[in-house]
Order: sequence, then C-alpha cells, then structure tokens
Amino acid sequence: MNIAMSLPQLSMSPPIISLKTRENHQDLLINQSSSPLSLQGTITVPGDKSISHRALMLGAIASGETTIEGLLLGEDPISTANCFRAMGAEISPLNTEKVTVKGIGLGNLIEPVDILNAGNSGTTIRLMLGLLSSSPGHFFTVTGDESLRSRPMSRVIKPLQQMGAKIWGRKDNSLAPLAIYGQQLQPSHYHSPIASAQVKSCILLAGLSVEGKTTVTEPALSRDHSERMLQAFGANIDIDKETNSVTITGYPQLQGQKVIVPGDISSAAFWLVAGAIIPGSELLIENVGVNPTRTGVLEILAMMGADIQQQNQRIIAGEPVADLLVRHSQLQACTIAGDVIPRLIDEIPILAVAAVFAKGTTVIKDAQELRVKESDRLAAMATQLNLMGAKITELPDGLEIVGETSLDGAMVDSYTDHRVAMSLAIAALAASNNTTIYRAEAASISYPDFVPTLERLCN
Ligand code: S3P
Repeated sequence: MNIAMSLPQLSMSPPIISLKTRENHQDLLINQSSSPLSLQGTITVPGDKSISHRALMLGAIASGETTIEGLLLGEDPISTANCFRAMGAEISPLNTEKVTVKGIGLGNLIEPVDILNAGNSGTTIRLMLGLLSSSPGHFFTVTGDESLRSRPMSRVIKPLQQMGAKIWGRKDNSLAPLAIYGQQLQPSHYHSPIASAQVKSCILLAGLSVEGKTTVTEPALSRDHSERMLQAFGANIDIDKETNSVTITGYPQLQGQKVIVPGDISSAAFWLVAGAIIPGSELLIENVGVNPTRTGVLEILAMMGADIQQQNQRIIAGEPVADLLVRHSQLQACTIAGDVIPRLIDEIPILAVAAVFAKGTTVIKDAQELRVKESDRLAAMATQLNLMGAKITELPDGLEIVGETSLDGAMVDSYTDHRVAMSLAIAALAASNNTTIYRAEAASISYPDFVPTLERLCN
C-alpha cells in the first residue's frame, strides 16, 4: 500500500487533525480538545470506484479510443490500469481531468511477461478473471496484497469452470495467487447464490468472448454499472428485472466511448453521516452518483430521519447524478436487512456509526458478505467502536447497535481497510477526547484526499 498519499500540510490552528508515521504506517490523530465542531461547506468526492474500474477495463478491450473524465485516482483503479497496461492497452498517465485509453480490441489481450498484481482490489481481480479465462492459449498469473490473498475467489472460479475455464489457486482453487490458462469458453446460465456485482460482472465479461448467450441470475439486484457501460460500448445486454437476470450475447463490436465518472456515493456516505450526527452541520456534496442500485444508504438514512435533500438531479453519461445536501438531525434506529443490503453493501460500516447516534436499537442482518471484504467489517466495526464506548453486539450476519451511546476517543485500528478507517474517523469527530486510528493510510484505496477534506471541513 502506498503510504505517500497526498497528506495535508499540518499547520492548522487549532490542531485537531494530524498524521503520524509509525512502522511504515500513517496513524490519524483526531484531537477533540478544541471548541465544539460543526461541519459546514461544499465539497466534491472522488470518482466512483466501481465505474472507474469498468471504464479502464472496457476501454482496454474495446476498439478505438476511450476517454475517462473524473477517474478515481485511488490505489485500486491504479492496480487495474497497471494490469491492463501489462496486457497491451495504452493508458495515459492517470489523472482526474482526462485519461485516454487506446483499446486493443476484444480478444486481443497479450500474455503479460510477469505476474499481474491486483493490489487490494477485489473488483480488479474478479472482473479481470472473466477476461483472462476467456483468452484462449494465453497464460496468466494474478496475485494481490495480503488482504486480497485471503479473500474468496471460488465465487468466480466455480462459475467460470462451469464454462470451461482452467484456473488453479491455493487452498483447493479458492485463493490467490491464481494461474489461468485461457480457453474458448462455453455459454452458460449461472444462478449465483450471492448478490454480487463482482460475480455478475466477471461472468458477463467472460460472456463477451463466448459464442451465443451467457446469463447470470442473482438473488437480489446488485450494482448495475457493468450492464450500463457494456451497453454504452455496444454490447448486446438483455435484462430481466423480474428474475434479476442479465444476458450477454458474445462477440459484440465494442467501441471506445467517452466516460464521465460521477462522484462515489460510497465516499459521500462518510460526509452524509458526519453531517447528520454532528450538531449544527450543513454540507453540500456536489456531483454524486445516485444510480438506484447504489442508493440504499440514502433510503436507510431517510428512514432513520436524516435531513438529506437530492438537488439538481441529472443524467451524465448514462448514470444518474445529484447534489446532496445534509443537515444535522436526531436519528432514529431502524432495521437494515434483505434486498437493500447489496445496494448499500459498502456503506454498512458508516451506517453502524450513524446507528450509535440514533435513538433505539438498530439491527443489521443478512450482511454476512461483510466478513469477506477488505477486512471482516462486522468484527472490525463492532470491536473498534466498542473500544470507543459503543454498545454493539456482533451477529453471525450483522450487528445489533444500541443507540445514543456517547463515544469517547480511543486507540483504534483500521485493520488496513479503507472504509473502516474512514468510518472510525467520522466516529472520532463525533466523540469526545482524542482518537488515534492506526494504519489510516488505507483511506487512499478509495479516497486519497479524505484527510485533507476532513481537515478543511473541521476548519
Ligand atoms: C463492487 C462490488 C461490491 C462492492 C465492491 C465493489 C464492484 O462487491 O463491495 O466494493 O465494483 O462490482 P461484491 O460484488 O463482492 O458485493
């Protein structure tokens, strides 16, 4: 993990936010001894991580040129760009203004001369596996960091094997590093036991190079950025909303496009909760993607009584976008379960923080997927918030959170998980006394400017 993330100049007064280097890590110190805080201002959040990955990947395998505006400059999309550069795509230096991808054309990935490294990124490795395993005659090896090497890959390996893929991995073909010998895959209809956009997208990308139709059915609708972007690039996609099924027809003419990446609602969620729980706050977050497969967090916060308005709703490059205005209000507990879970899967850590400040007991269920994210996010949030005085009980598939407990600063750990690090930082803002978040550099995976933004808002 790159710890040289863009760090703020620490010359603030009063000094409430600071960073400290310790054993190759950056700890974030939030010192609450200054005057009471309220968050005011207008901000933007970095580009959507899911859309950034897909724009780089589809740009790389399409014919012609793709331009990407608003790309996330986090470490995860950097991993994706490096993997596809190693397989022949010409990708200009990454920036948020305009990235140019010269595509190599469907089926033309070259065999890389070295191991592909997906870093911390589950989306990179899982989506890429669909493309690698359907590249006949080419050999690939893929690995990632310690966290990624412990995350389950059988969820994509098994359906790909059903299509004829040849993939080998540690622990009975379930863990990276993985070796792939590309094959001509066969059409299939995969009924996924989990609602996962990574699984769905992996199979759709494999289906690009399959003669005929490949279908994925999922138990609940997960984010649909792949379907939208594949269609925009020229793929033939059929969606059956009643059964949550998506079908792709093989060998489309994929043509490079102009992609405009909206702000990431998963990053906006930290400020939505901060604005909702910190008295006197009023924050406008501009240009946030509000694709309905991602807005579970807005629905749940509305149910909890948060004062959030969607303004200036518009469609940009096929994705719904809005500005979000949040003001402080007293939150109420609620139950978060069922089909909404895949639509807020990455926001559960920060919703757990919201629940600590809500009246009543919040129950989160059906969220066992959180145990296999960048960390076990149920365990991480329960143990670390409890160190700050929260009353959270872990359930096998969720959390039970007793609300209206006042938090007190503590030494807590990000578990090197970006969303845990940022959720704990927001909890620390609303706590009394001082908090130190160990290994907070993890934030740069999805939000390189998180600390400078925090610092700016606190001033
Ligand atoms: C993502 C899908 C989700 C999400 C991840 C990004 C994607 O994972 O948690 O951060 O871009 O497809 P799952 O598909 O495993 O739920």
